[in-house]
Amino acid sequence: MKFFIDTANVDEIREAASLGILDGVTTNPTLLSREKGKGDFKDILKEICEIVKGPVSAEVVGQDADTMVEEARKLAAIDEHIVIKIPLIKEGLKAIGRLKAEGIRTNATLVFSANQALLAAKAGASFLSPFVGRLDDASHYGMDLIRQIVAIFDNYDFDTEIIVASVRNPLHVVEAALAGADVVTIPFKVIEQMIKHPLTDVGVKRFLDDWKKLGAKI
Ligand code: G3P
Repeated sequence: MKFFIDTANVDEIREAASLGILDGVTTNPTLLSREKGKGDFKDILKEICEIVKGPVSAEVVGQDADTMVEEARKLAAIDEHIVIKIPLIKEGLKAIGRLKAEGIRTNATLVFSANQALLAAKAGASFLSPFVGRLDDASHYGMDLIRQIVAIFDNYDFDTEIIVASVRNPLHVVEAALAGADVVTIPFKVIEQMIKHPLTDVGVKRFLDDWKKLGAKI
């Protein structure tokens, strides 16, 4: 299972990379807008690629296939690790197929149904991103969709990797792993929550206190 971090914040990405668990990064226009004032977005994406040296998703904003493909070429030119995020709309599907023919990897985003996932895979997306948190917000079990897509993909030999996105809490990560998703993209805060366990903290303190009693040095 691969772990991506869902942020455009370079400090968070450096910190996550230092943990030795980071395989890639996903950004989107909202996440990049949070970095406003910290430099040109292309420089930020380049720096992210140099840190992670794995797939880094950057999203197009054009609404027709021609514009999406044009934007995708510019984004892909930033670094070899850039993967182009394309919304799963009709024009997006067209763009995914055209970019595949050009050898540019894509991540079909804003996926909310098994049919959209099937279409992304058929079109040749390298990744697809179902948004579990936003489904939960709309009173649907987001993880049910992940289980459906994993089951469907198990029936065929699609190359498309499933990225569990819009992750809001550590249980989403556990459920993504149980479902057999290829990738989970996790906000920095949730990575920190995954590390923490109160019994670990209590245990560390107790061992330290007892070691002090021994009065020895390692
Ligand atoms: O990876 C997609 C993610 O950034 C969306 O998350 O929390 O805005 O639904 P959220």
